[in-house]
Amino acid sequence: MNEKLSQIRQSILVGIEKKATSRATAFELRKQFLDSKNGEIGQLMKEMKNLAAEDRAEFGKQVNELKKWATEVFEDLDKKMKEKELEFKYQREKIDVTIDADAQEKGNLHPITQMRNQLIDVFAGMGFTIYEGTEIENDYYNFTALNTPADHPARDMQDTFYLSPEFLLRTQTSSGQIHVMENSKPPIKILSPGKVFRSDDDATHSPMFTQMEGLVVDKKITLCDLKGMLDNFVKKIYGEDTTTRLRPSYFPFTEPSVEVDVSCFECGGKGCKLCKGTGWIEILGAGIVNKKVLENCGIDSEEYSGLAFGIGIERTAMLKYGINNIKLLFESDLNVLKQIDDN
Ligand code: DAH
Repeated sequence: MNEKLSQIRQSILVGIEKKATSRATAFELRKQFLDSKNGEIGQLMKEMKNLAAEDRAEFGKQVNELKKWATEVFEDLDKKMKEKELEFKYQREKIDVTIDADAQEKGNLHPITQMRNQLIDVFAGMGFTIYEGTEIENDYYNFTALNTPADHPARDMQDTFYLSPEFLLRTQTSSGQIHVMENSKPPIKILSPGKVFRSDDDATHSPMFTQMEGLVVDKKITLCDLKGMLDNFVKKIYGEDTTTRLRPSYFPFTEPSVEVDVSCFECGGKGCKLCKGTGWIEILGAGIVNKKVLENCGIDSEEYSGLAFGIGIERTAMLKYGINNIKLLFESDLNVLKQIDDN
């Protein structure tokens, strides 16, 4: 019997050596020997009945000693395993606070939004507030009130998407002028950004694009005010060395009307590819608000005068960022868009 006891002792030690690699395997091993029902040590007691009566007490004592020893060995083992696992966990979760963080990819606003924000900043600095109109307009606000009645040849300047004989997708943010003048009294100083739509499609035109209308109505507004504001605008957007020049033009809602050029910011006015050798680049249409338009909105054209301008946001951005095809602004190609981060 003694031999059996030392065999068990031996197999506990070998088992620990070979199998106990974690708390879980150590626990399994413990169960094998110390489980109260089926443990090998407990089973020894069952053999008691096969012994001679005088040997039983000694055997019982030895089994108990073995049990005590095994219990201590397994407790010790569990403690060691626990420490080992904790150590492993600490190693695995160790954080080196001195390591550089992974670089996060940073997004940027769409170039049209960036340009729009820059324009708003410039004109807000001159006291303009924002009026946002609707993209669906009726014929009156988009054309008639802007001195462009149905049979007017100027309607051909813009290829219109009609939704019905009365409603259309606005072709110009100029329609915002009428809403503002109908609903407020001078002095007026508003900026109206938004999408506009025309049946037009080539490298520099898109059926949907963005404009920014400006309108100032007050006493004694003149072309000088317009020139001063636009000079300030080009300096902020294209650089302090730039300036503007006004050329006579025609729009039904302004009289006189002007086409505004900016001095070429690429060559400084000497003449280059961008300005086609002229030193000037056309950037927007503007003028003094036609008296008929003021009167259409119930504003006394003897007492008040106004200036207006319409900026194409895509064109302004294309010039500033050297984009040669308007499609690049609408194709959502991140490789293109992320190159323009100007905020
Ligand atoms: N609405 C014109 C267009 O889309 C641009 C324009 C020209 C706006 C002259 C104005 C202006 O306010 O005075 O072509």
